[in-house]
Order: sequence, then C-alpha cells, then structure tokens
Amino acid sequence: MHTNPPWTLELSTVMPDGNAHFTELAPPQRVLMAPGPTSLPPSVLQALIAPLTGHKDPFFLRVMDETAELLREVSQTGNRTCMSLPGTGGAGMEAALANLIQPGDRAIICVNGLFGKRMADIAGRCGGTAVEVTAPWGKPVDPDDVRRALENGRNRLVAVVHGETSTGVEQPIDEIGRLARAHGAMLVVDAVATLGGIPVVPDQWGAAVCYSASQKCLSAPPGLATVTVSDEAMAYIRGRHTAVDSWYLDLGLHDRYWFAQERAYHHTAPVLLVYALREALRLVVDEGLDARFARHLLHHRALVAGLGALECDLFAETGYRLPTVVAVWVPSGVNDARVRAGLLNEFGIEIAGGLGEYAGRVWRIGVMGHSASAPNVRLLLQGLETLLGREGHTPSSGAAVAAAEAVYSAAGLNSLEATGPTLLVD
Ligand SMILES: Cc1ncc(COP(=O)(O)O)c(C=O)c1O
Repeated sequence: MHTNPPWTLELSTVMPDGNAHFTELAPPQRVLMAPGPTSLPPSVLQALIAPLTGHKDPFFLRVMDETAELLREVSQTGNRTCMSLPGTGGAGMEAALANLIQPGDRAIICVNGLFGKRMADIAGRCGGTAVEVTAPWGKPVDPDDVRRALENGRNRLVAVVHGETSTGVEQPIDEIGRLARAHGAMLVVDAVATLGGIPVVPDQWGAAVCYSASQKCLSAPPGLATVTVSDEAMAYIRGRHTAVDSWYLDLGLHDRYWFAQERAYHHTAPVLLVYALREALRLVVDEGLDARFARHLLHHRALVAGLGALECDLFAETGYRLPTVVAVWVPSGVNDARVRAGLLNEFGIEIAGGLGEYAGRVWRIGVMGHSASAPNVRLLLQGLETLLGREGHTPSSGAAVAAAEAVYSAAGLNSLEATGPTLLVD
C-alpha cells in the first residue's frame, strides 16, 4: 500500500480554449535512494539510446549470449540457464513458482514480509498448497520452523526471500537450502534486493531457481527480471507431467530462445533494456564482486551511523540487517509524508515509505548499486537532519553527516576520494 505524498506535478497546461497542451517530457533529476529503482550509471543510460536492432539481428543475439555470460559471473553460478525475462522482478517470482509447482504440490514459503507473502499468494494461484512458515516482520525465518514443515509431508519446494525489501532483513539461506535438499525439495531464492549488492550464491545454496530484477543493485532500468535455473531444475521443468500454467513465463520456452542452436522465437525482446542490462552487468564485473559488496557495506554502515546520530531506530533485528535496504522507524511525532515530500522537493532525493501495516511508520532507504555512494549518503543525512529538525525531533547540528564521515575516514575514504552520483549543480 502506498500513501500518496502531498505534492503534484503539472505536466500539461490547459489552454484558453479548454484543450490540454502537453509539454515536452522533462523528468526531474532525482537521487534515487528508495529500494529501487536506483540511479543509472551514464553508460547504462547511453545503452538505452543506442541504435535499435531487431531482436533476431546477429548483433543482438550476440548481446544475449554476452548478457547470459555476465549474469553467470555476477550470480557466481555454473548454471547454463542464466537469462533475463521481460517484466519486472515479479515476473521472475511468478516464473520460478509457476514452472516448479504442479497442481496439488505442497510448497513451503518462508514469509516474514510483503514479498514472502506474495510468493505464497502466487504458489496458491499455481495450483499448489502454500504452507507458510512465518516470522514477524523485521525478523528472519527460523530454519527449525522450515525443518518442521518439511517433516510434515512431501514438498515440491521451499521458497525464501534473501533480502526482504519490506523490512530490511537479510535471511541466511545456507541452512534452509541444506534442509530443503535433505528432504528432496527444490529451493527457490528471491534475490531481487540483493543480486549485485551482497553475495548471491545459488550453487552454494543448491538453488533450483534464483531470480532478481534489473532495477535494484544492478542499476539497470526497471523492466527485466533475471533468472538462473539449475540443470536439474531445467530437466524437471522439461519433464513435467502438466504443461506450465503460463505460456509467457514458461522457462523451457525462454531457455530455447536464449540457448538452443536454432533459437526459437518466443517474444520480441526488449532490445534496449537488454543492452542496458548487459552494460549494467559489465560494470558489476568491472568493479569486481568483492569491491562492490564492500562498497555497499561501507555506505550502509555510514548511513546507519548517521541515522543513529539522528536518533532514528532501525526496524530489522540486529544481526540480520540487510546492507542494501535500511528500514528505519519514523520517529514518533514526525510526519512521514511531510519529510519524504521535503526530501524530494528540497533535496531531490527519493526514499520509500513503509509497506502494509507499516505505511506511515517506517522509511525504507536503498543502498543499492550506482546510488550507493558517499555524496548520496551525505546529502540524504543532511536532508533528514534539516527536515527532522523542522519537525522538532532533533536539532540540526551536523551530527548525522559527522557520524557518517567518521565511518568513511576510518575506512580511509575522504571527501575528495568519494565518488558517485549526486544532484547536478551548476
Ligand atoms: C524482494 C522483492 N521481491 C520481488 C519484488 C518485485 O519486484 P518488481 O517490483 O520489480 O516486480 C520486489 C520489489 O521491490 C522485491 O523487493
């Protein structure tokens, strides 16, 4: 559920004759620090205005091959099937569940936030029986609870969200993966909020399917899901006794489109989005996975230090805090919508509000991809400090930026070295 912030933007003017005149589209320059989409690196933006080829052009087919290769590297997997699907992260979620669940199957779904709940909903729509293993929002799911559910019958799969964007919780996957394997169930991992930001290791976890999305830590535009499928899961999908309920998201058909000797037409690929994804993945590989993970962690720590100085309490349980999404309680007496409107209008920064019952009570801040930078963290803390001061919560003393700065200087990062995108100022 979204609360509408109290601002509107006029994109058209009403002429004296009463007709609307549509002005040229001129989107504002924003610093995107919600948990997706994130700001785009210049070369990714450039890929979006590259010359368009047809989706069967040999050049584009080569781009698909390279995108698969890069995705394999970023996903640290030996799986052949690494590809993008048209549609957002939700397409990856739906594809994973629709391809693995057959009517009558039991599917164990770990639910500790909005996206786990969505998986349970989809599993039911696929004709399965969703067995929810729950934990309160803000806490991880207990592997012992998963074990108990697994012992309670035959299960086709266990599905788990690696980074719950609704709560800022990082779910440890290793033990859940081990339990699923030991009980003959396949593992589905939602890495929408984590791929490219923290280690995502589907082979180590024994994941049948691990999916993500273009617009979060990879910093490509929204519009694509990424998916990797193990060879065993691919064989299972091909040998199903019932056809996959969704023609469009049938992973067997997508696999033939991406990897068969004779590529079978499946859909008209969103060519420019795939260019952009390839460029975004190339940048991840170029930066180096370890360096990229360290960068995310550093800016997470700096942001958390600043929020601490602002006396803002974190939502997620200590020890399970997701580096890529910081969920923080809106301090009591502070108006959520007014602060977010101030951040957007006065500082040009977008952060997100809480979801479900936490709408209006929690802020969710993305520390993701190209947006994860020292200038952005400083700007956000400055903005929050100003606006919280105005709300009468804490005085504007510069303490928040100073706390972040202490983290940066302890890590050897000074202001001049700190690179990254921020608002363009003349
Ligand atoms: C963990 C998680 N899973 C799935 C999704 C759905 O992705 P999308 O909004 O791209 O469809 C999101 C979106 O925020 C997410 O955070």
